[in-house]
Amino acid sequence: RRIDLIGIATAAGASVRGCGMGPEALRVAGLPEALVELGHDIADHGDLRRPHPEISTDPASWRLPEQRKADVLELAARSSELGATVLSQGNFPLYIGGDHSIAIGTVSAAARHCEPLGRPVHVLWIDAHADFNTLLTSPTGNLHGMPLALLCGEPEFDDSFRGPWLGRIDPRNVTIIGARSVDRDERRLLRARGVDIIDMRRIDENGMVALMRGVLAKARDAGAHLHVSLDLDAMDPSIAPGGGTLVPGGLSYREAHLIMEMLYESGVVGSLDLVELNPFLDHGGRSATLLVDLVASLFGRTIMGEEAGPVEFV
Ligand code: ARG
Ligand code: MN
Ligand code: MN
Ligand code: MN
Repeated sequence: RRIDLIGIATAAGASVRGCGMGPEALRVAGLPEALVELGHDIADHGDLRRPHPEISTDPASWRLPEQRKADVLELAARSSELGATVLSQGNFPLYIGGDHSIAIGTVSAAARHCEPLGRPVHVLWIDAHADFNTLLTSPTGNLHGMPLALLCGEPEFDDSFRGPWLGRIDPRNVTIIGARSVDRDERRLLRARGVDIIDMRRIDENGMVALMRGVLAKARDAGAHLHVSLDLDAMDPSIAPGGGTLVPGGLSYREAHLIMEMLYESGVVGSLDLVELNPFLDHGGRSATLLVDLVASLFGRTIMGEEAGPVEFV
């Protein structure tokens, strides 16, 4: 199965600029080559992006909320379309963001593809945050904090948010892993909707293996397509400094790789997002390189495997 790279070069959902450069940084860090090295066929669709805003000396101008929202939804429509096409051709879409608002389009692509086949879409959201805010609960108004709520059909999203994403996902089929920063009203919603939150406390107490086995068994038993959405800030800031919304106490290097290796072995992963990498904030490409290595683990690299180890790109 070919892996189709789809760059979504945007920071419209974030308050900090820079993750629009994420797709290019991941290419520079050797993402396509790492996958080729593992024996995969790759196609690169390049980047979806929106025209740059007019130059203005008003520091607030780039973040006019209406323009950012229009950018987010326009890119979601395009990535949803392209992703659904890639899936219908039997290929694996690997979306490289971009801030986490891109998941509005990418998850909806999986839903559009799977619904006619009677196949449920499960979502594994690997993130320090829950991204389940609505317009009313969000403390920031940033759309990268809201994609899951939109996908799960929270009623506060009005007609202006309409699209093939609204309410496409059953919140009981969503697992968030790595959570440690959840807003107060967001918590209430998550509990009410039955989202499974594997927060850091649960990870410390139960261990990653047991928890991941549960997630994977649930997806396998349902015959689901598992969409994995990997937010860089799930990882501890000490190993992944290149993000705009860092939170201490994150996943270790080993926990993150273990998740990826178990996902590979499960064979249930059908699509993947890499989001929130901000190359402007990164330290010498460390975070981009970490993501490339994690993706390699998700696509079959093992410590003692047959294939060559990590390739150095300098
Ligand atoms: N919960 C905060 C908010 O709603 C932070 C969200 C951060 N999301 C992200 N994808 N990094 O604004
Ligand atoms: Mn996120
Ligand atoms: Mn996050
Ligand atoms: Mn720093």
